[in-house]
Amino acid sequence: MMNRKTFLTSAASLALAGIAPLARAQAGKLKVGFMLPATGTYAALGTAIDNGFRLYVDQLGGKIAGREIEYIRVDDESDPSKATDNVNKLIKRDNVDVIVGTVHSGVAMAMAKAAKESGTLLIIPNAGADAVTGPMCAPNIFRSSFSNWQPGFAMGEVAAKQGHKKAVTITWKYAAGAESVKGFKDAFEKAGGKVMKDLTVPFPNVEFQALLTEIASLKPDVVYTFFAGGGAVKFVKDYAAAGLKDSIPLVGAGFVTDGTLEAQGAAAEGLLTALHYADELPAPKDKEFRLAYAKAYKMQPDVYAVQGYDAAQILAIGLNATKGDAKNAKAFSAAVTKATIDSPRGKFTMSKAHNPVQDMYLRKVVGNENVYQSVAVKALADPATGCRM
Ligand code: BEZ
Repeated sequence: MMNRKTFLTSAASLALAGIAPLARAQAGKLKVGFMLPATGTYAALGTAIDNGFRLYVDQLGGKIAGREIEYIRVDDESDPSKATDNVNKLIKRDNVDVIVGTVHSGVAMAMAKAAKESGTLLIIPNAGADAVTGPMCAPNIFRSSFSNWQPGFAMGEVAAKQGHKKAVTITWKYAAGAESVKGFKDAFEKAGGKVMKDLTVPFPNVEFQALLTEIASLKPDVVYTFFAGGGAVKFVKDYAAAGLKDSIPLVGAGFVTDGTLEAQGAAAEGLLTALHYADELPAPKDKEFRLAYAKAYKMQPDVYAVQGYDAAQILAIGLNATKGDAKNAKAFSAAVTKATIDSPRGKFTMSKAHNPVQDMYLRKVVGNENVYQSVAVKALADPATGCRM
């Protein structure tokens, strides 16, 4: 074993002889800091990400680039006001090699700031905050999921093609909701539609009654929504209970029916949504993934599990190129942006801003599944406005 002193001495003698020391394979455990919600409306999403990530690592025999993995977990509670303290626990107290997180866009923005300042590798397995792969983009920040704009844009195209002309949007009042609605509007209005009104409730409130009454009186052709997790369950049930389901079609970013269908029951039947994952996808990798996930966790995976799995794939691609060195962002980034990632969602590539360039699917709820209907938009890339790298 080489201790620090002998390493420095041999490095110094190499330097004296005019020889640059070779990049060494990194040894020792790789500390992975999971910053995910374990409580609150997004708790189930955090669990699915954790499961998906560990499934891929287990398939690799518990090691990435020869390094065993040690997991350290922080519950971020989907609370942006605690995000800086939480992420600094992982960076400064636990000295992690890589952070994997999170679900909530507001929390992710604080994490991206801390990652950028400290140079710590960050892989975002859900939060779609456009800014993270826009003005905040960085060589050490990657996303395995989507930008909030992407599913909204795909659903806007489909809604316009279906002949809808007047839409109302309804969502939580924070970055994810606003950006999802912007994506919808960009496509819907470009195709000649008009968004009559944007309705919001504060995150994570689920008091929808007054807004549902307003929708009934506005009488749009279609309602576009972004909700997820526990809030999505309540919203879809309330929409049906208000008698709107049969008179005004409800469409959304697919989170509104992903991982939620058992709890939503008949209220969700027939809903159309757009997302980068679906049930019954014609992707061979998906069949293998679903079998392995069901065997390991005794439940079916959802989009969040896929994003966790792919976060681990991205980590493995990058670290194999850097011989396990999580600090070599340049070589890590070069390997990841060159790769084609064989995801259960279908193959995708990574944009220069480090966001997936991926097919967006139209799905329809049938029983407990978001059944694949068609490719709504092929290889959709986020505009990455403001990213300079
Ligand atoms: C977000 O905050 O970015 C988000 C949360 C849940 C599902 C999708 C996006």
